[in-house]
Amino acid sequence: EKGEFRHFMQKEIHEQVRALTDTLAGRVDFDNGKIRLPQLNLDAEGAKKIKKIIITACGTAAHAGMVGKIYLERIARIPTEVDIASEFRYRDPIVDADTVVLAISQSGETADTLAAMEEGRQRGAKLWSIVNAIGSQAMRVADGFISMQSGPEIGVASTKAFTAPLVDLFMLAVLLGDLRGTLSEKERFDLVADLRLVPDLVGRCLDREDEIIPIARKMKDAAHMLYLGRGVNMPIAYEGALKLKEISYIHAEAYPAGEMKHGPIALVDKDMPVLAIAPLDPWYEKMISQIEQAKARGGSTLVVATEGDTRVPDLADHIFWVPKCPWLLSPIVTVIPLQMFAYHIAAQRGLDVDQPRNLAKSVTVE
Ligand code: F6R
Repeated sequence: EKGEFRHFMQKEIHEQVRALTDTLAGRVDFDNGKIRLPQLNLDAEGAKKIKKIIITACGTAAHAGMVGKIYLERIARIPTEVDIASEFRYRDPIVDADTVVLAISQSGETADTLAAMEEGRQRGAKLWSIVNAIGSQAMRVADGFISMQSGPEIGVASTKAFTAPLVDLFMLAVLLGDLRGTLSEKERFDLVADLRLVPDLVGRCLDREDEIIPIARKMKDAAHMLYLGRGVNMPIAYEGALKLKEISYIHAEAYPAGEMKHGPIALVDKDMPVLAIAPLDPWYEKMISQIEQAKARGGSTLVVATEGDTRVPDLADHIFWVPKCPWLLSPIVTVIPLQMFAYHIAAQRGLDVDQPRNLAKSVTVE
């Protein structure tokens, strides 16, 4: 039941500390800097054989996959693509026995995702899945799986089943990097040590919920919003915009920030609020100049920034503060205020947050 919360979505946002703690439990050996994912059925020989990973998923799960691509390429040095499940099987994909098709799904029953797995099977790929619903089809048909520890998710807008797979993908990348010998011992230990910080960092974002409510009140009648992110936080722009669209019915569009100058900047004026994700990561300077450009064109600016940042306060009309964190893991942190922002806008608009119009929790039709 919802307990102290008004909606399941709000409750589930707050359950992320517990879900992420459970995600690490039993899988991360901090003393030895090792990752254990036994249900993947993976050994060093199998790991070395992999030439390509194709992540396939829909919606929020696909956004998790976009972050996963960066983890798998950077940490494990395995070429990785992300394919929207409803596109994958219609484009005659190049898949063979050295390819892993990795499906991500909360429900494990999404028709398009299951069909993409079947396509991978037909073409001889190894099938892995990252799934929340225990015993679901996406778990059963896979050669190996990672079980999300999110617990049942009831709100149609996915929250805790977004952050858990980000951690799963990070752990998977470290495990593959270890088995394939692409990580030095120090790199491996450092990456594993960073994981320990995650639940607390998320908790510190949740503690700032009261600061988000007035920002939501200011923005709740906006007609449009533009979300910008870059690098590892580019997928978070997409995820933040999706959360806003699906529960508040405000049109939100996401762009990789570097694409702005190739067209979308034409949209920016005083009626187009720009939400920029600008934590202290390798793209910080680029994001700052993007925010300056939006401001120069009269757009109101909302910025996700790292506590202690001294430049963002001069540029932003509203700030979502997040704690300082290792940049590779920052998407798990920066998404939290955006979930709460979308939630509070929808709640203040008096909408049915847990059951948005036209949407179903599990999309079992094509
Ligand atoms: C967004 C949302 C959807 C799902 C998508 C995939 O909040 O919930 O975009 O992420 O329908 O669902 P699963 O993960 O069950 O395959």
